[in-house]
Amino acid sequence: MTENKGKYDERNQLNDLTGKEWLKLTKSFLISEKCAEDKKAFEHPAPFLIKDVEKMISMFTKKGMTVLDPFAGSGTSMLACVNLNRKSINIDLSEKYKELAYNRLVLKGKNFSSSNKYIVGNSLTKMDSLDEVDYVITSPPYHNILKNKGNGIRNQNNKEHRTGSRLGVEYYSELSDDLGNQETYSDFLLLLKKIMSKAYAILKNKKYCSLVISDFTVNKKEVNVQGDIVQLMEKIGFEFVGTIVLLQDNKPLYPFGYPYAFKINHMHQNIINFRKVEKNE
Ligand SMILES: C[S@@+](CC[C@H](N)C(=O)[O-])C[C@H]1O[C@@H](n2cnc3c(N)ncnc32)[C@H](O)[C@@H]1O
Repeated sequence: MTENKGKYDERNQLNDLTGKEWLKLTKSFLISEKCAEDKKAFEHPAPFLIKDVEKMISMFTKKGMTVLDPFAGSGTSMLACVNLNRKSINIDLSEKYKELAYNRLVLKGKNFSSSNKYIVGNSLTKMDSLDEVDYVITSPPYHNILKNKGNGIRNQNNKEHRTGSRLGVEYYSELSDDLGNQETYSDFLLLLKKIMSKAYAILKNKKYCSLVISDFTVNKKEVNVQGDIVQLMEKIGFEFVGTIVLLQDNKPLYPFGYPYAFKINHMHQNIINFRKVEKNE
């Protein structure tokens, strides 16, 4: 028997989902889901999983619409767009990640084109020359955490690093424009605000933006990164519309504070969602 997918409402300007499918994606949590296509992405230190991004893109766009990822890395948003017949514009500082994204596309029998663009450079300036987009989904560097001992990719032969995680590149780049290379957490927030203001400018009115990031420690102190992100996005003009917790219950657990103090193991990312609503609307 085929599953009853529900009914599509012709008034729906946001996506191609039936009411039943729409409702499922309004849950405040998602369980992160791996698939075979994710494998190559792990040549990048911190990629999205395709199925997770697909769910967000299905909620916030219709077929043929354009998605922007200003911190595109291995090109996961682009691959999700290919799978869902959306167009995408992807920006990253790194030529190396563009090549990785290209190789992932080729594995699908595709190529860069006017529907799958990948621009190398600083998002802060590269967004100035773009046309309007229908949705922004992205995951910025988490300040400098990949540079903290034990948070980057771990080498099992190196006793200084914990074992049990992936091997590979340690951090994105040495470039001063890299959001991951900002001296302080405040500098990081400031540059992220400038970049997201550019994304706001090219996002169509009433459309959505999702930022994927977890809380983390700064100078060994736990920080409410989510709160800071909501504040900075609201200052830009975005309206906060809710956070979806992306559960990652398959990560290794570390006894950070044991047996002296409680130190949290972050086992989820926050998908923090915003809408652009211009004041005169
Ligand atoms: C968390 S990763 C994104 C991973 C991506 N979601 C994926 O699936 O592979 C953040 C990316 O931001 C890039 N980046 C950092 N600063 C940037 C900037 N100013 N402009 C463009 N890209 C930048 C880094 O090179 C890195 O690839």
